Amino acid sequence: MVHKVQGVVARFKGAPVTLETILVPDPGPGEALVDIITSGVCHTDLHYKLGQISDDFPFLLGHEATGVVSAVGPDVTEVAPGDRVILNWRAVCGECRACRRGRPQYCFNTHNATQKMTLEDGTELTPALGIGAFAEKTLVAAGQCTKVDPEADAAAVGLLGCGVMAGIGAALNTGGVQRGDSVAVIGCGGVGSAAIAGAALAGATTIIAVDINDTKLDRALTMGATDTVNSSENDPVEAIRALTGGFGADVVIDAVGRPETYQQAFYARDLAGTVVLVGVPSPEMTLELPLLDVFGRGGSLKSSWYGDCLPSRDFPMLVSLYQQGRLDLDAFVSERIGIGQIEEAFDKMREGTVLRSVVEL
Ligand code: APR
Ligand code: ZN
Ligand code: ZN
Repeated sequence: MVHKVQGVVARFKGAPVTLETILVPDPGPGEALVDIITSGVCHTDLHYKLGQISDDFPFLLGHEATGVVSAVGPDVTEVAPGDRVILNWRAVCGECRACRRGRPQYCFNTHNATQKMTLEDGTELTPALGIGAFAEKTLVAAGQCTKVDPEADAAAVGLLGCGVMAGIGAALNTGGVQRGDSVAVIGCGGVGSAAIAGAALAGATTIIAVDINDTKLDRALTMGATDTVNSSENDPVEAIRALTGGFGADVVIDAVGRPETYQQAFYARDLAGTVVLVGVPSPEMTLELPLLDVFGRGGSLKSSWYGDCLPSRDFPMLVSLYQQGRLDLDAFVSERIGIGQIEEAFDKMREGTVLRSVVEL
């Protein structure tokens, strides 16, 4: 059976998104059909629309989602109809060299549904990050579904599906932040704010928020930052050193992803400290650093893929911490909108006035 539902589609590069009737097939082997409840609007959706990710138009946008499994393929055992799930865009294969070495969070062979969703005329859709969740139903690989407690607010926990997990994981998983550590986070948008929340969760005692926008810095204080630095007014390296006894922070997270912010992170870190790059650079960017400083300062320079998360381990754990009041995911939900309001949400994102607009379906 094929399901006819409404979905938000980017048809051509830069064109405004449109609400279209889409056709979603019943799940085949390894697949799950999911009724979407909520889906957050992420920068990546905007990047797809602008043709900055690939030219495989038309795209079915949306990927930070909570839903309910409505049907599964014949061989699927990990989820069942009726399960409340958060979708992820890195389904673990279980067979690649990373998985076989017991490091499934780095799975090199992530996968999506094999069948295609289409427009009514049969044109195949490319789902954003292999999900496509601005739709009443979507088809994914069963491994993209992680079962969570249905009592938790869908809009809040669905954000763990992308940017919020990337930030929290950059601090907890990649950065390995420990109780008593000093942490600096450069860039306090959705990802950086989540990194601040992650550092607070881990017990960091000094958490320095760095941004060029005072509004973002004020909000960072409500997310767990202990100090702020406006790097358009002050040298962030000097300021971070001054706030950490003259030494630099144990972990510095670059949640912007530009050569200059990476250099700031590199020099704002204490000897033998850790730099985590979680902001995503663009292809033309290059990095130049004195190799002697790379050696002489020791420590580790790491990149964080999706917060190096393992959804089956991290999503239920973070949902639980949210339900216990120890992780404020509600703070990331700036507004709840309808499926027809994505363009307005993109505008607000560009203006920087929201952390996340969340579509309720
Ligand atoms: N120094 C410090 N902060 C900066 C700088 C800079 N040079 N340039 C931008 N910022 C701040 C912005 O003011 C904003 O608060 O970085 C923040 C970026 O936030 P968002 O635009 O909301 O982006 P976010 O969703 O957090 O993603 C950050 O991670 O997933 C990637 O593609 C994404 O590279 C981006 C990064
Ligand atoms: Zn794998
Ligand atoms: Zn995203």
